Amino acid sequence: MKKNIKIFDTTLRDGEQTPGCKLNQKEKIEIALQLERLNVDIIESGFPVSSPEDFNSVQEISKIIKNTTVCALSRAVQKDIEIAALALKNAKYPRIHTGIGVSSEHIKFKFNSTESEIIERAVYAVKLAKKFINDIEFYAEDSGRTNNIFLAKLCESVIKAGATVLNIPDTTGYCLPDEYGNKIKFIKENVKGIDKVDISTHCHNDLGLATANSIEGIRNGATQIECTINGIGERAGNTSLEEVAMIIYQKNQLGFYTKINTKLLYKTSCMVSEYMSVNIQPNKAIVGANAFAHSSGIHQDGMIKNRSTYEIINPKDVGANQSSIILTSRSGRAALKYKLKTLNYDLKNFNIDKIYNIFIEYADKKKYVADEDLHKIMLDYN
Ligand code: KIV
Ligand code: ZN
Repeated sequence: MKKNIKIFDTTLRDGEQTPGCKLNQKEKIEIALQLERLNVDIIESGFPVSSPEDFNSVQEISKIIKNTTVCALSRAVQKDIEIAALALKNAKYPRIHTGIGVSSEHIKFKFNSTESEIIERAVYAVKLAKKFINDIEFYAEDSGRTNNIFLAKLCESVIKAGATVLNIPDTTGYCLPDEYGNKIKFIKENVKGIDKVDISTHCHNDLGLATANSIEGIRNGATQIECTINGIGERAGNTSLEEVAMIIYQKNQLGFYTKINTKLLYKTSCMVSEYMSVNIQPNKAIVGANAFAHSSGIHQDGMIKNRSTYEIINPKDVGANQSSIILTSRSGRAALKYKLKTLNYDLKNFNIDKIYNIFIEYADKKKYVADEDLHKIMLDYN
């Protein structure tokens, strides 16, 4: 039987930390509703202590979202936790996400503290949060650079204090997939009480490995992935939701499933891109403008014969437009004929070599040949 992987979306919290991506409350509510339609398991709605506006957004999202867990971030600090609990008061399924930096860099430079003091602060935070809400996720910030023995000790202490989810963030995007996978495996094998809680991945993309690391995390025992739409987030961003959702959907052999309605991925991606004013790079996996576009003659010929030659994902499965054939100077006669037929030209009485020669002259002058250019080419032919 396939194992369920929970999808924790942090577009409205980590994603909104992207420079220039600030959203107003109305936009946040619309995105939260779209995330609920997409069927994510958890929506991280904000960091309520950070500003009155963020507090209000978390509060409003808590009132509106009915079927999904609504989560709010806090540091391991009394005021943060109390304010997060207050903002979540109306949520049907509330979760507080609290935590502290645990790597030697964080302990020394951020807190000027010691490992045992960090464990004390972590336990204090979980116990305090537990007084307000049952579902408490603990993040061990910068776990990626943290010694596994200390990390396991800390995890055991917060589970004892009542944590229901353990988040093991690779905050700086430092780990290689096998390092991250082994870290999750180590925790799974060395922490008492681990089977009672979810282990969550939270990977940043500083080395372009966030998606690979998240997948390696679930292969080694994690049951939740934290991610954002379009992979937005601090610095180089977070794991991209659409990538992990489609990897799990496509790769049966992994033995996982998510509840994501993949047909809404493209629409959700466009919505987040528009509201946050961040363009999606054209070659972005799954949702980029070129993800299902074919421009070289060899590929186009294959695609016209059978889509499976060059596409492993059906664009309909992610709600994207059909695959497209882009005519360029690299295109061949097969693609040209195919496009002209879609424009209703009956080519029976035409010499295709002659049309192709006119086409190549156009194509050499332009980046790509559009439908209106094809009409001009046919006029030139006559
Ligand atoms: O990257 C990180 O460690 C975080 C935590 C606050 C969960 O975003
Ligand atoms: Zn993060």
